[in-house]
Amino acid sequence: MPPSSRMPPSRRTVLAGAALLPLAVPLLGAGPARAQADRLLRRPIPSSGETLPVLGIGTSRRYEVEPTPEKVAPLREAVQRFVALGGSVIDTAPSYGTAEDVLGLILQDGLREKVFLCSKVGTPGREGGAAEIARSFKRLNTATIDLIAVHNLIDPTANLATLRDLKAQGKIRYLGVTVWRDGQFADLEALMRRETLDFIQVNYAMDDRLAAERILPLAAERGMAVMVNVPFGRDRLLKAVQGRELPAWAAEFDCASWPQFFLKYVLAHDAVTCPIPGMAKAAYVEDNLGAARGRMPDAAQRTRMEALVDAL
Ligand SMILES: NC(=O)c1ccc[n+]([C@@H]2O[C@H](COP(=O)([O-])OP(=O)(O)OC[C@H]3O[C@@H](n4cnc5c(N)ncnc54)[C@H](OP(=O)(O)O)[C@@H]3O)[C@@H](O)[C@H]2O)c1
Repeated sequence: MPPSSRMPPSRRTVLAGAALLPLAVPLLGAGPARAQADRLLRRPIPSSGETLPVLGIGTSRRYEVEPTPEKVAPLREAVQRFVALGGSVIDTAPSYGTAEDVLGLILQDGLREKVFLCSKVGTPGREGGAAEIARSFKRLNTATIDLIAVHNLIDPTANLATLRDLKAQGKIRYLGVTVWRDGQFADLEALMRRETLDFIQVNYAMDDRLAAERILPLAAERGMAVMVNVPFGRDRLLKAVQGRELPAWAAEFDCASWPQFFLKYVLAHDAVTCPIPGMAKAAYVEDNLGAARGRMPDAAQRTRMEALVDAL
């Protein structure tokens, strides 16, 4: 286990949680009060002030299916449910097999304008990168992509130059970079210090907390939004708690399931904008969006959560 990060609760998180608290109590009422209580928390993108719901969908692996009606149907159901519940951020990449094509099909049903669409560029060189991005626009069947990030820091000099051109032309709205392993943090940190980025995407999970040491504080200092990938460590965390009961004290921060427990821990970090767990089922969407509502764990609760996970 990496050293633990004992982070004081963010003022923003506390305020956001507190703001929802009175609304979370009269859940029995129907109509506007109920709708308010069900609303997802939102956080700002520092470079613009635009706010996003704090949980998104990741599409690697499970969205890489044959784009046939049968294979796409459950994925469409998951995305439709996500949007109906107030979700908006969806992350994909040209290297995720057919995921961009599949998403392009799903978003045609009037969903494109309701989604904050994120893709990546992972080919080196100005020409290669630009060609890959052109293919993403085609596959996603869209005139604009909200965010394109340099995938795994591949040729950031050439690719960030291409992304800056696209931003100036209004074809993308934000740019950034991604990593997903601790071994990439030194290069990521150097890049964050020398470049102006709207977003970073980084691995941060309850059993992989190194990002909290330097990367997350640096993102806050440099005004970069943070998407968190692999928040369950794929199947690591959920496997580790299989057969175990959720502790009763999880209810103190409005947590009703293990997936919400892992996501609320990540979300309680001040610098985090939006984790993007892989969600290919409507049931996962419904469960995980529970993490984007209500109170977040405070510093003492986070320490208790870490102790529980470290002892697994
Ligand atoms: N370098 C990069 O840029 C990079 C690298 C990695 C990932 N990413 C992004 O980050 C996203 C998330 O990573 P990930 O999908 O690999 O890992 P993850 O989010 O840690 O785990 C996703 C898996 O957790 C399970 N799951 C999700 N919600 C659940 C629920 N409520 N109950 C039970 N199980 C649940 C699902 O497993 P089953 O499907 O097996 O049921 C799902 O595939 C990716 O989709 C991708 O968009 C980016």
